[in-house]
Amino acid sequence: MAYFVNVRMVVAASCIVAGVTGGSIARAQPYPSKPVTLVVPYSAGGPTDVVARTLGAAMSKSLGQTVIVENRTGAGGTIAAAYTARAKPDGYTFLIHHNGMATAPALYRKLNYKPLEDFEYVSQVIDVPMTLVGRKDLPAKDFKELMAYAKANGDKVNFAHAGLGAVSHLCSVLLRQAMGVDMTTVPFPGTGPAMNAVLGGQVDLLCDQTTSTTPYVKAGSVRLYGVTTNTRLKSLPNTPTLAEQGLSSFQIVVWHGIYAPKGTPKDAVEKFGAALKGAFKDPVVAQRLADLGAIVPSDDKLTPASLRSWLEQETQRYSPVIKAAGQFAD
Ligand code: MLT
Repeated sequence: MAYFVNVRMVVAASCIVAGVTGGSIARAQPYPSKPVTLVVPYSAGGPTDVVARTLGAAMSKSLGQTVIVENRTGAGGTIAAAYTARAKPDGYTFLIHHNGMATAPALYRKLNYKPLEDFEYVSQVIDVPMTLVGRKDLPAKDFKELMAYAKANGDKVNFAHAGLGAVSHLCSVLLRQAMGVDMTTVPFPGTGPAMNAVLGGQVDLLCDQTTSTTPYVKAGSVRLYGVTTNTRLKSLPNTPTLAEQGLSSFQIVVWHGIYAPKGTPKDAVEKFGAALKGAFKDPVVAQRLADLGAIVPSDDKLTPASLRSWLEQETQRYSPVIKAAGQFAD
């Protein structure tokens, strides 16, 4: 009997000890102790998704936990940003977003998050040029012919984009203005599905980032009419810029940032940021990003302060332009 009592006491005591130490072990576990979610505001297969998956795979290795890419699409990227702003600030939810973070406050009157207040700012990510591509069987073989074709066909020409607030939408608006042709725009939840529609011949044109279009351009599955930078790209050296083909000063480069919900522990923000920096130094990642035309910012831009200040500058730059145009998405 005494034996059983002793065993029960020993078991009970060990349970208490295990509970106590187990609890303290759980608290002391180094971050991250489980997979980390990286929210992407657009569809799988699009440029933001490509960048998130490329970097996420490399970051998983250094973090010792999988970075899971989660696509939360809709409302030009604002659904994903609102979701992240309200997510538990425990270091296990991050958001990758682009210029849309700066344009949303002017475009959406009922925005239910504040880009400059509701987040922790992790780091700037990469800068990506855009390309104007068209379906392979479009009669126009170059940009000069495209101008003539668009003028002759007007709103019969379809221009795909990823919703109000998406950079592909911004590019389509600026291009229609610069070309002086009011083409019909067709929204998709991301340029992944928009590109599929170009490949399938259901839409005519798409302005999308090189991180998405380069493989299709190289495979010859789309027509390429020009790049949106002021100089030619190393990754597509034979492609003229749109500026050199008559759209003087036409320039769009997409910038990206990584955010976390406000209140996320500093340690988690710093470790995620350090893993990102490490991913850029991985030769395989660096080569892949260069092949896709992406530009990695200098180390001084890979900081929380740099992203916060860049977002503020960009918000101030876009806001009066969008307000003056009287363009609202809601
Ligand atoms: C995407 O990832 O689908 C694009 O970044 C959307 C866009 O054009 O802004």
